Amino acid sequence: MVELALPKNSRVVPGRTYKVADGAVRKKTLRVYRWSPDDEANPRLDSYEVDLDRFGPMVLDALIYIKNEIDPTLAFRRSCREGICGSCAMNIDGGNTLACLKPIAETSGRITIYPLPHMPVIRDLVPDLTNAYAQLQSVEPWLQADSPAPPDAERPQSPEERQKLDGLWECILCYCCTTSCPSYWWNGDRYLGPATLLAAYRFIADSRDERTGDRLDALEDPFKLYRCHTIMNCTQSCPKGLNPAQAIGEIKQLISERKG
Ligand code: SF4
Ligand code: SF4
Ligand code: FES
Repeated sequence: MVELALPKNSRVVPGRTYKVADGAVRKKTLRVYRWSPDDEANPRLDSYEVDLDRFGPMVLDALIYIKNEIDPTLAFRRSCREGICGSCAMNIDGGNTLACLKPIAETSGRITIYPLPHMPVIRDLVPDLTNAYAQLQSVEPWLQADSPAPPDAERPQSPEERQKLDGLWECILCYCCTTSCPSYWWNGDRYLGPATLLAAYRFIADSRDERTGDRLDALEDPFKLYRCHTIMNCTQSCPKGLNPAQAIGEIKQLISERKG
């Protein structure tokens, strides 16, 4: 009989518990995934009890408070604190989202926080996005045109042409979508995933770009594009309300149309 075993150190074990000081009125507990490459220990869930009257309303405010006041060893990414930089993406109570846009008031009971799923972890809540960034680079997400731009002016675009970019340019590359996609979980080495495909479509849809044919050629691949099975997890998880599944559908449609 085949014996299946979890990889070494993959089991998450209970961790340390930090209690709030006496006198707190509004208490909340955050359970946070902890793992360090510096020792052989299993990942653990540390429990931090906090006083909600000591910091702002978002989950990121709580994490910053924990790092500043309780446990400086906790590692996570953040920068803008207003849903613009995409760096605070993590899995909160089972859903991928931005910690800076997640109100604590929308949670019930204990909050449980893991890094973005199915990515290698650098430390604690910090995922390794090296592969995802290389995939993004591979679709050359910048405007490409051989025809010269008008002297002293931007390349012109009609309001209707510009409107086609709405729902695409707003992507902040947080990878909440890609890391919620089952196809990416299993084939992330070859499937580009929804964030990168949305970025590719943003330039395919741009009337000023002159590389549409080359871009579609590069995507016409059973793994890079066609591993998307329209499961829609990506669209449901986007904290910016974008629709990467639709963008992927548009790419497939364009490839199918040019085949005639
Ligand atoms: S629609 Fe495609 S990209 Fe989005 S979650 Fe499903 S398989 Fe992944
Ligand atoms: S489409 Fe949404 S979830 Fe995906 S990377 Fe862009 S902003 Fe993040
Ligand atoms: S800190 Fe920038 S998106 Fe959350």
